[in-house]
Amino acid sequence: MEILLAKRAGFCFGVKRATQMAFEAAEKDGETFTLGPIIHSPQVVQRLEGMGVKVLSDLEGIGNGTVIIRSHGVTSAELEDAVRRQLEVVDATCPFVKKAQEHVKRLSHDGYTVVVVGDADHPEVQGIVSYAEGPVHVVGSGEEAARLPNMKKVGVVAQTTQSFETLKNVVKECLLKGGEIRVFKTICDATAVRQDEAKALAREVDCMIVIGGFNSANTKRLAEVCSELQPRTHHIETAQELDASWFQGVERVGVTAGASTPKWLIDKVIERIQELDNKKKG
Ligand code: F3S
Repeated sequence: MEILLAKRAGFCFGVKRATQMAFEAAEKDGETFTLGPIIHSPQVVQRLEGMGVKVLSDLEGIGNGTVIIRSHGVTSAELEDAVRRQLEVVDATCPFVKKAQEHVKRLSHDGYTVVVVGDADHPEVQGIVSYAEGPVHVVGSGEEAARLPNMKKVGVVAQTTQSFETLKNVVKECLLKGGEIRVFKTICDATAVRQDEAKALAREVDCMIVIGGFNSANTKRLAEVCSELQPRTHHIETAQELDASWFQGVERVGVTAGASTPKWLIDKVIERIQELDNKKKG
């Protein structure tokens, strides 16, 4: 059985950076915390927990130690809270997310009504929105943007994982709503690149394995796009979940992984597929 691994499977730049910063912080003395899981990989979070890094939902009762800010950022109030408590802050917010936060702050400071294109429930969006000093709206589509009130000056910023198509549709509606518009293309192409590669791979193989946290939106989406092209697609978190029956009659298997999946998990999955293949032959 041939195993084909997507070129850009696994960690994106921002997640790699955040994970490195977290492991470095974990090695230092003193208590270390993250506000929410550092990345959407339960296995990475578990490893860090094994090194003493605790996941907190807020800083209530925390008076000293180091707090690591996750890759998709936190709200300005949470960051201020950490500073007020005189905690050491390791800010692992992805620089692309940080850029979106800064644009929102600047736009609203300059009197623009901010429109954030994204999912209102996502922590990244909640973080971005928190930097607005004035009116701010979150919209997930052009249809939602069509329901916005008329605005004098509009500033548009996107959640980093949004598609260009959605941003374009929202901007089109905003053009009908405002007299002056500024648009910042804060989309990061890591998600789109992974999806395009996964689609190309799914067309070539008889079975697709997608590795990544069940809580990771980008991994779930990867599995969805693969399933549309290859019904024998399986979303797993770890090698233990692989089932020998999935590979019956399979000549080529494709493997990809979400942006928050570490290389060691991908390697283990590939190893296990090889073992299952050897058993099949033997
Ligand atoms: Fe950053 Fe893009 Fe990854 S915004 S966290 S590099 S998906």
